[in-house]
Amino acid sequence: MRLLLTLAGLLAMAAMLQFCDGVTPAVLGKVETPVVLSCMEEAKWLVDKAYKERRESIKQRLRSGSASPMDLLSYFKQPVAATRTAARAADYLHVALELLERKLRTLQPQPFNVTDVLTPLQLRLLSMSSGCAYQDVGMMCPENDKYRTITGHCNNRRSPTLGASNRAFARWLPAEYEDGVSLPFGWTPGAKRGGFPVPLARAVSNAIVRFPNEQLTGDRERSLMFMQWGQFIDHDLDFTPEPAARVSFTTGLNCETSCLQQAPCFPLKIPPNDPRIKNQRDCIPFFRSCPACPGNHITIRNQLNALTSFVDASMVYGSEVALAQRLRNQTNHLGLLAVNHRFSDHGRALLPFDNLHDDPCLLTNRSARIPCFLAGDTRSSEMPELTAMHTLFVREHNRLASQLKRLNPCWDGEKLYQEARKIVGAMVQIITYRDYLPLVLGPGAMRKYMPRYRGYNDSVDPRIANVFTNAFRYGHTLIQPFTFRLDHRYQPTGPSSRVPLSTVFFATWRVVLEGGIDPILRGLMATPAKLNRQNQIAVDEIREQLFKQVMRIGLDLPALNMQRSRDHGLPGYNAWRRFCGLPQPSTVGELGTVLKNLELARKLMAQYGTPNNIDIWMGGVAEPLQPGGRVGPLLACLIGTQFRQLRDGDRFWWQNQGVFSAQQRAALAQISLPRIICDNTGITTVSGNNIFLSKIFPRDFVNCSSLPALDLVSWRERA
Ligand code: HEM
Ligand SMILES: *[C@@H]1O[C@H](CO)[C@@H](O)[C@H](O)[C@H]1NC(C)=O
Ligand SMILES: *[C@@H]1O[C@H](CO)[C@@H](O)[C@H](O)[C@H]1NC(C)=O
Ligand SMILES: *[C@@H]1O[C@H](CO)[C@@H](O)[C@H](O)[C@H]1NC(C)=O
Ligand SMILES: *[C@@H]1O[C@H](CO)[C@@H](O)[C@H](O)[C@H]1NC(C)=O
Ligand SMILES: *[C@@H]1O[C@H](CO)[C@@H](O)[C@H](O)[C@H]1NC(C)=O
Repeated sequence: MRLLLTLAGLLAMAAMLQFCDGVTPAVLGKVETPVVLSCMEEAKWLVDKAYKERRESIKQRLRSGSASPMDLLSYFKQPVAATRTAARAADYLHVALELLERKLRTLQPQPFNVTDVLTPLQLRLLSMSSGCAYQDVGMMCPENDKYRTITGHCNNRRSPTLGASNRAFARWLPAEYEDGVSLPFGWTPGAKRGGFPVPLARAVSNAIVRFPNEQLTGDRERSLMFMQWGQFIDHDLDFTPEPAARVSFTTGLNCETSCLQQAPCFPLKIPPNDPRIKNQRDCIPFFRSCPACPGNHITIRNQLNALTSFVDASMVYGSEVALAQRLRNQTNHLGLLAVNHRFSDHGRALLPFDNLHDDPCLLTNRSARIPCFLAGDTRSSEMPELTAMHTLFVREHNRLASQLKRLNPCWDGEKLYQEARKIVGAMVQIITYRDYLPLVLGPGAMRKYMPRYRGYNDSVDPRIANVFTNAFRYGHTLIQPFTFRLDHRYQPTGPSSRVPLSTVFFATWRVVLEGGIDPILRGLMATPAKLNRQNQIAVDEIREQLFKQVMRIGLDLPALNMQRSRDHGLPGYNAWRRFCGLPQPSTVGELGTVLKNLELARKLMAQYGTPNNIDIWMGGVAEPLQPGGRVGPLLACLIGTQFRQLRDGDRFWWQNQGVFSAQQRAALAQISLPRIICDNTGITTVSGNNIFLSKIFPRDFVNCSSLPALDLVSWRERA
């Protein structure tokens, strides 16, 4: 187990023995407890030192004005608050085990698992001294809770951490690592996976995903809003943090500028004849996701979800208590969310600004001086369309809170906030399950994976599965290469009506200074999504130019998806086909039959050698689409299964008995995303139902007055 290879650099074995000292164990199976504890002390010292040096070096470079864009972006991606604590506890534990193993290996050259030689008591000691064991302490769930907690704790009363933020992902299948426990496939040059060489993720992206973008096909039946809702709700469900100490624990190696492969860096190597990157010694930077505090299977690396898993609008409200507080308007008792006090959008609210030390948004236009926004999820400024959705729902919260105040003048700020939050959460559930998912899965898979709701079941596991965080990236195939903005007549006006995606990543200035969110929302409603075709999988704006303005080199998102699945130890294509009860092709002919495309099967086999090893994202998006859906059978199963569990395992599901009254449920059933747009923007003409179907202006558009508004009368409390 080489969980943190970087330690090798700093710690010569001698030095280590000196720090992590104690009586040398005579035989395996008997390690002295003081040795175990001294390794933990040593691990803490190393980890803290790395974190501290990282902060100092950024501060130093900021003071001297030499901070690079990479410094800034790396800082931006660091986990915050409770996520940082959870990640650090796991770092302590993993480093301590690594130290122990190195120590024991000098005495025991044959392979062994370090945790097998520790007693249960010693494992528990490690878990406690790292802080991992304290994550559940003090967990008392209230008996009559009317509202969700911010962290998702206590949704499941029998197992209060299920679905809570900063916990490990569920594993639907055991992890598959090169060394069985921690190293990703592709780590050791020449090491094989099930007998076959592992192709470079970038090589697969070049061979299978790349296509001449002029040939892009617009989807005649899906609007670009279909893409955008996917990203927005993904950010309600999962965020996998990367290490806070983005420099290796020992050598000070920076994963963003160096191409050395040393934990936590797992850079993407460049294949020969790369269409863009000519220097084969260059790389695409990549940071391994943080390990999670281990559960029962202490040895096998898992990753952690910084968000609540539930469909609960946590991207609006936050998944941690401190953030949730910061997002609220502290100065009044109206239950409002805080809004921007420097700028507004034609009199309507914008998101408040964050105050990051170093802010990537500033880099997208240095003269404009517009920082990143603050929202319930840290990625809200990633692109203007996403920012527009966050902004819309903050306005909707404030609109609801104000209306509730009018109906119930006696309600205090807390009550107004919680009731508005509860309604917004229900809205996100309804739009997702009634309007969005049927168009993802298609009617057949919808019937199969999403049968009628029959009430809350506390045996259903509501956690996000590790594989889902990769499978749901299917949405990357729907991305258009431009941000489209339309005026009140739904006409493009001027040069900023169609700007390349590579110039909008983190470009908050475009929202604040180029006309607000209305033109963006019109663009999402009246432009078709990209269609995922087997020879047109993802556009070069995300395959060659992702985050170009804030990174040293443009990233390749499809390649990152594949590298990430290896980082997370996700099994390959056929393992997931088996999990889903689907036939598992083994030859090129069989794969051609499954894909209904022999040429594509040949290309995949040329890369992987066997269908078994096809990375889950690649195999998933290569399948032919379900009738009426936008994913193939495998992704339909993985996505459908996850969303069913998120529904049936959610005690606060909007249709569960006792959550809302029957009258409230009837009122909520009328809500729609276009109506929410009408209620919170200057837009008066919107796409009729269903907003995710593609719409041609003016044929398919309706006057806002024709859409029912949410009737809040059943929220009036009788005195
Ligand atoms: C302009 C649009 C988008 C951009 C620029 C974008 C970019 C990214 C990036 C950079 C990552 C992390 C990659 C890595 O290092 O592993 C990511 C992860 C992800 N993306 Fe996207 N994405 C976009 C749209 C979407 C859409 C439409 C969906 C779904 C329908 C989606 C679903 C996801 C999911 C589920 C993850 C994993 C999140 C996590 O657990 O950390 N994304 N995306
Ligand atoms: C260590 O544990 C992993 C996972 O349980 C297993 O695959 C591997 O064979 C074990 N190695 C040894 C040497 O016991
Ligand atoms: C809080 O609400 C008050 C009253 O509506 C408003 O004047 C103030 O600007 C708000 N503050 C923030 C930070 O949103
Ligand atoms: C930066 O923002 C200003 C508005 O403040 C705009 O006029 C200018 O064109 C932008 N620069 C670039 C390179 O887009
Ligand atoms: C509840 O969920 C569990 C686990 O999926 C399942 O075995 C059980 O049959 C379900 N119970 C009901 C009443 O649906
Ligand atoms: C929408 O309907 C309202 C009320 O019926 C009307 O006043 C308005 O002119 C209509 N707007 C458009 C663009 O047709």
